[in-house]
Amino acid sequence: MNSSQQKKIVLGISGGVAAYKSAELTRLLVKAGYDVHVVMTEAATHFVGPVTFQALSGNLVYSDQWDARRPNNMPHIDLTRGAAAVLIAPASADVLAKVANGLCDDLLTTLVAARDCPLFVAPAMNRQMWENAPNQRNIAQLQADGIQIFGPGNGEQACGEVGDGRMLEAQEIFEHLEAALQPKLLKGQRVLITAGPTFERIDAVRGITNTSSGKMGYAIARAAYEAGAEVVLISGETALPTPIGSRRIDIKSAQQMHAAVESEVAASDIFIAVAAVADYHVLNASEQKIKKSAQQLTITLAPNPDILASVSTRANRPFCVGFAAESENLLEFAEAKRRRKQLPLLVANLAQSAMGADDNEVILLDDHGQTRLESAPKIDIARRLITHIARLCPSVK
Ligand code: C5P
Repeated sequence: MNSSQQKKIVLGISGGVAAYKSAELTRLLVKAGYDVHVVMTEAATHFVGPVTFQALSGNLVYSDQWDARRPNNMPHIDLTRGAAAVLIAPASADVLAKVANGLCDDLLTTLVAARDCPLFVAPAMNRQMWENAPNQRNIAQLQADGIQIFGPGNGEQACGEVGDGRMLEAQEIFEHLEAALQPKLLKGQRVLITAGPTFERIDAVRGITNTSSGKMGYAIARAAYEAGAEVVLISGETALPTPIGSRRIDIKSAQQMHAAVESEVAASDIFIAVAAVADYHVLNASEQKIKKSAQQLTITLAPNPDILASVSTRANRPFCVGFAAESENLLEFAEAKRRRKQLPLLVANLAQSAMGADDNEVILLDDHGQTRLESAPKIDIARRLITHIARLCPSVK
């Protein structure tokens, strides 16, 4: 079961072109198991019709305070009761100004004032409006009132100008919302993660790599940030967007990954080695493309450093977590690896089931024994792993 199942979210939509992104946001929320109730300002209905949100959310859409569809005629109270949060996306300069000053002149602003749950806002406006002094004062007031601001993003705007004020993409807002709702089990912890494959160059156009999508490592980076950690993600080449909250360092080879880990590890409390590091690199890789010939070609391989072992044997080591993808004798090989690399925690998975998939099924091995995490989306496995780490790691209070 997805951890977000049955959580009610009130999604407020105010007037802005970015309202079209909220259709995608609604879809993402529903897909993740949230019960989404959309409330639109009158202006918002000029950008996207309520029918779109009703169809996507499966719930009635409200915009009028006097809507007679509510038997007690109090949608401003009912809608937020039992909700995990109210999220306003897009939040226009006007709606932010009203909320910052406690005005309640329509359904959305009235239910915000009457809510008994957290409020998050994703601003969307032209760059001049964003920088406008009253808007900046309102943002500061909202922050002082404990309201979390998601974004805004920077870039090209619908009006053609470039700058701050764009609404974040739906996926980013979704990730921020999920992060805001997770318990802060790793607050104050600095987490270093390796993810993805390494690439060992043979010549200018060829190389040796491992099969690794990076999905598990990226999900762990996201889950660590959700838990309140400061996250550094050292990544081989993947097709994935950087998870929110991570400082990402891109590398190609195992030696580059090792160097990046060396320069970051002293400032880390927890090290999670998820990367599929190539065991060998090519000796005397050619700068130029090797030309085809009828002769046999021999490539000499030399062992790469074991990054995880080099960290776990440091004098002042962080809490080290390893991964073991095995294609047979999973538990036996994994436990031997845990002892050899001196790890307090190792995550074992069958290589066949994990590679590239969106779901995973793992066994956690530590000094107390085994914990099986049944098949689930990688982000759910990642959150449960973070909970387990928080329980075992001595630096976590
Ligand atoms: O020995 P093996 O490669 O199976 O160990 C897997 C674990 O060790 C993973 O956590 C992986 O990220 C890490 N590792 C590493 N450096 C290597 C090889 C593996 O950090 N050169």
